Order: sequence, then structure tokens, then C-alpha cells
Amino acid sequence: MTTYKLLLLPGDGIGPETMGEVKKVLGWFNARGTASFETEEDLVGGCAYDAHGKAISDEAMDRAMASDAVLFGAVGGPKWDGVPYDVRPEAGLLRLRKDMELFANLRPAICYPALADASSLKRDVIEGLDILILRELTGGVYFGEPKEITELGNGQKRAVDTQVYETYEIDRIARAAFELARTRRGKVTSMEKRNVMKSGVLWNEVVSQAHADGYQDVELEHMLADAGGMQLVRWPKQFDVIVTDNLFGDMLSDVAAMLTGSLGMLPSASLGAPDPETGKRKALYEPVHGSAPDIAGKGAANPIAMIASFAMCLRYSFGLVEEADLLEKAISSTLDKGLRTSDIAGKGESAIGTSAMGDAIVAELDALSA
Ligand code: NAD
Ligand code: IPM
Ligand code: MN
Repeated sequence: MTTYKLLLLPGDGIGPETMGEVKKVLGWFNARGTASFETEEDLVGGCAYDAHGKAISDEAMDRAMASDAVLFGAVGGPKWDGVPYDVRPEAGLLRLRKDMELFANLRPAICYPALADASSLKRDVIEGLDILILRELTGGVYFGEPKEITELGNGQKRAVDTQVYETYEIDRIARAAFELARTRRGKVTSMEKRNVMKSGVLWNEVVSQAHADGYQDVELEHMLADAGGMQLVRWPKQFDVIVTDNLFGDMLSDVAAMLTGSLGMLPSASLGAPDPETGKRKALYEPVHGSAPDIAGKGAANPIAMIASFAMCLRYSFGLVEEADLLEKAISSTLDKGLRTSDIAGKGESAIGTSAMGDAIVAELDALSA
């Protein structure tokens, strides 16, 4: 039996609460005996800053590099609002993404049948929705230099962020989009703003070139990112895979989250390139949501995004497709039974807490595999 080494980084706010529910799921899979998961745990974000003045320690980075996959909860919160920019909680997550070269961020948005009325959009707009936002994660304005605030000497300041993309960065994310589309409905929509940004002009050109180079069986469409945001809300089912840059992908995936009813539902996978020798990819799995300071500590967070992120880990890092399907089915049938955390409970529906939702999903794993 293969043993997989996981590094758990629960982080701040609701991170440790939702990670606690993944631990139950890990315990269930370990007891089942078809695969074994060995876990280590470390600090990231505000709690790491409190412990050693950095948003992630070098030791934790080494452990992340040596793991088969990282499971990440969430970071940040008002407690760390005043800390220096370079060591703010979010810097820990950005370092993990950059140093592990996790350039491909898969953010699926699926409408579970039982939740078709939980979205603020009409049922027919989102019923049956299954789209994938592929966000470029290691480039663009998040990492471009210079990135600074300078004093102009006249009481004014000047802030600069730099959007940079090179051909290879666009090419590899475009190819990842075409590969993913081949396993789905065969359509890619590339979003940029070539009408105002040079990086958008290059993005459009390189995506078209990659398409012409061997992916003509996949349908490619180009859309300006602002119009894309509008279309995502107007008729999201027109999309299959959306490929876009780091910042547009950040914003569009939060929009997509609300199509599914709640940020608490959206998982993600951040993947590196396969190692040429072993074929293994570095990978980190995290919910799209943040540390939710408004509900942290109340036991009210929805753990589904975190648990579904582990399902993506089973699928993409370990090829445990049967286990991933089983876990996703357990989530779906738990929802079918009417169990809801408060973020997805409709008017008049009663809500359960984080731990009860985790327990219900584990009970469903039992029931489905009996
Ligand atoms: P957020 O995602 O933390 O919360 C937005 C809203 O969604 C809140 O009302 C929250 O209660 C709700 N929500 C989020 N996750 C939920 C869940 N699992 N169950 C139920 N409700 C949920 O975004 P924010 O408030 O803009 O940011 C708070 C902090 O989190 C900031 O410091 C931000 O930088 C950080 N953040 C971290 C990550 C990450 O660690 N990956 C992602 C986004 C934001
Ligand atoms: C996300 C988050 C992060 C981002 C923050 C916390 C750095 O919003 O993962 O969507 O902007 O990428
Ligand atoms: Mn975000």
C-alpha cells in the first residue's frame, strides 16, 4: 500500500476549524486501508508571524517541498492588519505558490443539485453548472517588479505594481487549459484585456499560437475580461474552461463562487509542472475562501470547500480517482439530505455547525462504501 506524505497548514481564522474536518476524512481513509496518509503540521500566516516573525518559516517551506502534497486552510485577519507588508499573513501563501512553482490554479465551480436555490441567481441560470477557472498563479501583477510605494517629497506618494508576463508563462497555462478541456467539454475561453494592456496583447497571441500548435480539436474563444465577468453572471453555462491571468482569475473565481451559493463551497488545486523524471507534480490544495474573521471561532464555517480540496488532492496528486469520486459523492449526498451550514441554508432552513457537517460527510462515506 502506498503511503502519501501530506503537510497540513491550517493557518488562521476558520482555517484550523475546516482543517479539523479534513483530518476526520483522512482518518476515515486511513482506517479503510486502501491508501495511507501520513501527516505533518506546521504554521502559516498570522500564527506563523506570531511565532517567529515570518508568514512562513524556512523549515515549513522545506517540509512543503518534501511533501507529496500540501493542504492549506486560510490565512489573514484583522489582528495582523498593521504588520509590515513583507511578513503579512498572505505573504506565506504567496511564497508557497512562488517557491513551489505552482503556476496552474484549478478553481472548479459546480452547482450541486441540492443547492440550486442557494445562489443569488435564478435556478435555471446555474442548475447543472460545471465550469473550471484556470488561473495563472505565479506571475502577473502579484509578483512583477517594481512593486513599491515611494515618497514624492511634496506630501504625495506614488504606488506601483507591475503586470509582467513572458511567453513561456502564458504558453504553459494555455496548454494546461487545452489539456483540461480535452477531459471535459472541449472548450477554452481565454480572458484578458488586450484593448488596454500590453500583457493582454501578448496573452492573446501566445494562447492562439499554443492552440494552433496542436490543440485545434479544442474550441478556443477569446473574451475581454470585463465582459467575461458579465457573461459569468449572465449565463455561466456557456463556459467550460476559462483561462486567465493571476488577478483576473482571483476576481472571477470569487464571482464564480457565488454561482455555487457560497465561498464555503469552492475548492482549488494549485499544481506545478510534472517532474521530467518522476512525473510527479508539486501541489497545494486550498479552498478559495479566506479566514472569514466574521465567523471564526464560532464553529459555523462550511468545511465543504476544504474537504472538496482534499478530494482534488486524491484525484490530481495521487490518481486515487475512486476515492475522489467517493468523497465528492459523500459531499453531494450529505447536501441531498438537506444538511446545511448557515452560509448555504435557505430562508427558514435550519443550519448545522462545522463539526456536524464533517461528521455527516464521514457518515456518508461509511454509508456509500458499506
Ligand atoms: P473571506 O473569504 O475570508 O470571507 C468572505 C465572506 O465569506 C465572509 O462573510 C465569510 O464569513 C464568508 N465565508 C468564507 N468562507 C466561508 C466558509 N467556509 N463558510 C462560511 N462562510 C464563509 O474573505 P475576506 O473577508 O475578504 O478576507 C478575510 C481574510 O482572509 C483577509 O485577511 C484576506 O487576505 C484573507 N484571505 C485569505 C485567503 C487564503 O488564505 N487563501 C483567501 C482569501 C482571503
Ligand atoms: C486567493 C486569495 C489570495 C490571492 C490572497 C490571500 C493572497 O484571495 O487565493 O484567492 O489573492 O490570491
Ligand atoms: Mn481571492
